This record gives sequence, C-alpha cells and structure tokens, in this order.
Amino acid sequence: MKDQQITSTSAFAQDVQEGLTSFPKFLSSKYIYDEKGDKLFQEIMNLPDYYLTNCEYSILEKHTAAIADQFNSDNGFDLIELGAGDGKKTKILLRHLVAKNYDFSYLPIDISKYILERLEEALKEEIPDLEVHIQEGMYFKVLDKLADYNHRKKVIIVLGSNIGNLSHEKAIEFLQNIQEAMSDDDMLFMGFDQKKDPQIILDAYNDKTGITEAFNKNLLARINKELDANFDLEKFKHWETYDPETGTAKSFLVSVEDQTIEIPELDLSISFKKWESIHTEISQKYTDDVVEWLANQAGLKIKEFFTDEKKYYKNYVFQRK
Ligand code: AVI
Repeated sequence: MKDQQITSTSAFAQDVQEGLTSFPKFLSSKYIYDEKGDKLFQEIMNLPDYYLTNCEYSILEKHTAAIADQFNSDNGFDLIELGAGDGKKTKILLRHLVAKNYDFSYLPIDISKYILERLEEALKEEIPDLEVHIQEGMYFKVLDKLADYNHRKKVIIVLGSNIGNLSHEKAIEFLQNIQEAMSDDDMLFMGFDQKKDPQIILDAYNDKTGITEAFNKNLLARINKELDANFDLEKFKHWETYDPETGTAKSFLVSVEDQTIEIPELDLSISFKKWESIHTEISQKYTDDVVEWLANQAGLKIKEFFTDEKKYYKNYVFQRK
C-alpha cells in the first residue's frame, strides 16, 4: 500500500533481497509507486475496464448529501483523508460541504509533499472557500499527531479500496491503527471493492492496453534503476488470477525463459526457471460479512454503507464499537 511506501533504499534493498531469494519468489506492491508507478496508476484509474474508480465516483456523486449528513456534528468536524492523491473523488464531497456551509476543515495526509502541494494549489483555485491544512508524512504518525486535533469530530476517509492490497491480517492491523486514533464520536469512511462476476475482475487487472502490465513490471524497472539490476522486462509476462472463493485477485510476473539476473547493489545473482513466478500484488474483493468481520476484529462497527447501481463497490461508515 502506498502509505507504507518506504523511500529509504535500504528497506527496499532488503525487501527485494528477501523476496527474490524466497521460494516461491515475491515482491511487495508498495514498491510499484515511484514517480513512474504513480503516473501509471493514474492512467489505470482512467481505464474503462478499471471499474473501481468510476463506481466510487458515482457513489460519492449520487449520495453526496446523505454522506455529508453522516459526517456532520453540532460543532463541526475535521475531514482527514489518508492518501489524498489528486483528490478528484474527494472534491465532489468538498464542493458540496462548502456550498452547504458545513463547518469543517480538510486535512489531506500523504507521504508525498509534491502531491500535497499540487492538491493544495488546485483546491485554492477550484474551491477557494475551503479551509485546507495539508499533512505530510506516514498515515499513522500523522494520525497520532491529530488524535487530539481541535477536540472536535474527526472523519477519516480512505478511498480507492487501498485496503485490498493488504492481507486480512495486515488489513486488521491497518484498521486497528485507525481505530486507536479515533474517539467515540469519530467516523471512518472507507471504500471496499466487492465480489462480482470473476471476468469483470480479471478484465480490470488485465487490460488490453498493457498499462497494468507496465504498472506491475515497474517493480522490475525500479530494481534496475535503484539497484543496478539487469531485468529484461520483455522476458517477464504479467499474469492475473482471481479466486472467487477467497475473493483474492493476485498479480504475478512470470519468467518466460530460464534466466539469471544480476543485482550488483545486493551482490546477488537470481536464477529463474522457465515459467517461474514472482507474486507481486493482491487486490482483495469483499462481501459485507468479511468487512464486518475485519471491522469487528479491529474494534469497529459498520454504521452505514453506500453502494453504486451495480453493487460493484461499497463505501462503509465505521465507528468505534
Ligand atoms: C491501489 N490499489 C487499490 C489498486 C488495486 O486495485 O489493487 C492497485 C492496482 N493494481 C493493479 N491495478 C490497480
């Protein structure tokens, strides 16, 4: 997940070494997101097959007033967004909240100062009456800092089904960290992609334009760039699977021939057998029962949810139990 993107090369180097010397091989999807990975993800979000973005957009558009109603409280609230990005979806809510004179401020948290400054500029121009306080840093460090912020209701929002890139165990940890920063009146508003026709899910992660393939292969490109390795990206194939029982979509890179890769910065040679895989990402799909179970494990309960016409995607409102 983006928030856990660790910029120090040593953590990256260690994780690459561990993943590529394990059997079976794996790499963490959090490392896809360097500047090029961020751009490719923006492109993915504009792909017609990548339905997640449009579904969440339509939920926010259709239910703006009801969502705003959930957020409101007598002495206003602070809207804290984890992983703000370009704020395209959030702006629907922000415009409504400002137009209806809600008493609130917007605190986007992101690890990238560059992203935050661009967002702040855009918001100044597009929604001049909005009160914005950008927060640079790792989600939980900033959340800790904000735990007593203003002593009024905090509404924490996490869009994009980012939680889906975590195993259930890590997802519970993630939710628990948020829960610990919440008071009884606070709210968490979070997107979860839902189980659906397996073909639709496969198509979303296997687009014909090759953008998702490039996104997945950016892991190898990044190892080449930062650790001086010699991966030939043509010699790996992007492969996607979806298990309708567990709801887990998995991305792999599969070696199309026997080959040995040199990673000088790690003083390492890695051999691949023909058709050997590197597991790179999971994108979990959920049901209400699973979301309820995750929330319960983390000390949270579902208060409300909003969905799109096809019920492909849901945004849940959580409170502390
Ligand atoms: C960021 N995350 C929720 C995306 C997803 O759907 O798992 C990342 C992604 N991977 C391939 N396409 C998009």
